[in-house]
Amino acid sequence: MTSQYKKFIKLIAKWPLDSSKGERDLGKVIRDKVKEAFESTERINLDSELCNRQYAALNRLADNHYKNKYKRTHNSTATGLSTEECNLMLSSEVLTYLKEENKGFFSKRLRTLPLRRFSTEPVEYKDHTPVLLNEAITHLSPKDNEYYIDMTFGAGGHSRKILESSDCNLITLDRDPVAFAKAQKLAEEYPNRVTPLLGRFSELPNLLKEKGVKQQSVDGILFDFGCSSMQLDNGERGFSVSKNGYLDMRMDAGRDPNQITAREVLATANEHELYKIFKIYGEEKKAAKIAQTIIQARYMIKNIDTTQELVDIVNSCCPDEIRLDKLQRPQSNATKIFQALRIFVNNELNEINYGMVLAKYYLKIHGRLVTITFHSLEDTIIKRHIAGNIVNEVANPVPLKYLSPTMVQDQDTINYFLDTPWRAINKHVEVPSDEEVERNPRSRSAKLRAAIKVK
Ligand SMILES: C[S@@+](CC[C@H](N)C(=O)[O-])C[C@H]1O[C@@H](n2cnc3c(N)ncnc32)[C@H](O)[C@@H]1O
Repeated sequence: MTSQYKKFIKLIAKWPLDSSKGERDLGKVIRDKVKEAFESTERINLDSELCNRQYAALNRLADNHYKNKYKRTHNSTATGLSTEECNLMLSSEVLTYLKEENKGFFSKRLRTLPLRRFSTEPVEYKDHTPVLLNEAITHLSPKDNEYYIDMTFGAGGHSRKILESSDCNLITLDRDPVAFAKAQKLAEEYPNRVTPLLGRFSELPNLLKEKGVKQQSVDGILFDFGCSSMQLDNGERGFSVSKNGYLDMRMDAGRDPNQITAREVLATANEHELYKIFKIYGEEKKAAKIAQTIIQARYMIKNIDTTQELVDIVNSCCPDEIRLDKLQRPQSNATKIFQALRIFVNNELNEINYGMVLAKYYLKIHGRLVTITFHSLEDTIIKRHIAGNIVNEVANPVPLKYLSPTMVQDQDTINYFLDTPWRAINKHVEVPSDEEVERNPRSRSAKLRAAIKVK
């Protein structure tokens, strides 16, 4: 952000929006004017001297310099001036000038992007490379005539390997219609062995009921959480920090018309809500600053519509900062913010918790569970289900040892907490080999857990 722009932001922050004043709220009028100017594409050269004079005039108003002339009747920082009076304070030339000055902040290229949908033509992307493939199949150990569920079909890498390893039957699930279409193709390749289902974990009970699948009837369940490469690499889906596109991020790709997009979250959540999303789901250390900047941009410039605009906003909050990933490669400053929004939009953590509850109901005794997670928020839920830190079928937000350090629990309570239907097969998580990480860097943070249902 340029210094001129920062100056105006500070100034306008002195006028918090006072909705009771409607059109007479100066803060609102100025914000609308600035937004309008930043959205317009006209170029007018304006001398910065005039801009400074306008700024000084506004500043005097903000400091209640004219208190004798314009009496404030309410205890509010808004001035209560009319729209015309406000227009005189900040002329359209000044606003256009500000926009010109800030063209680096929201690059011109981005402002000319269509705001709603990009092309709806199907695009072919390189298929997803399955992570920890051999390890997952070894633990699942498919056998002839048994029944398995691949809960996260994606591009079907794990599913194909399950079908190749034995003459078993496979149900595939994915919430993404693109993945579902791939599962239908796989079903044609393996006639009478594959049942493709389209839906979320939370929709699975109804889908299985329609197919006549009963509880305690499945021999193995696989979860490979997160996004597929087809989702991440397709800019139009809005998941990618490096490919520009409309900020969508819905794994279901519009299947559910009521599901909110990332763009709608950024346009409607308040500052504290955005902060919580970024802090909790992204573990982002600059969550507060980024949330504040998004709100400022929203009032003064425009809503954040594209992935590139969001990356620009986050970068403006982390000047001179170079972040590295686990492989010490430069990573976008916006990676955690994207992760947070994706988790929120897709309700991912609740879905994972629900998926684990379903695994317990649908597996036979001695059925096998394999999970692959990609960050600690996902892994913690799996760990607590397997180890037995569950209350009312929900993974506890805190580890058992912190639940009540001062209280001595009776044996029944301890047994209730520790009750688990699972026996872990691997004591520690399994991670990809160096060769796998080199071949497929997206596997770098994967963790595999395997367990047997014992009761
Ligand atoms: C990492 S990919 C799976 C890749 C797959 N194992 C393969 O080998 O190609 C994760 C997939 O899970 C799907 N997914 C994530 N959460 C889901 C949920 N709650 N219900 C159903 N599918 C989900 C995503 O749409 C995505 O296609």
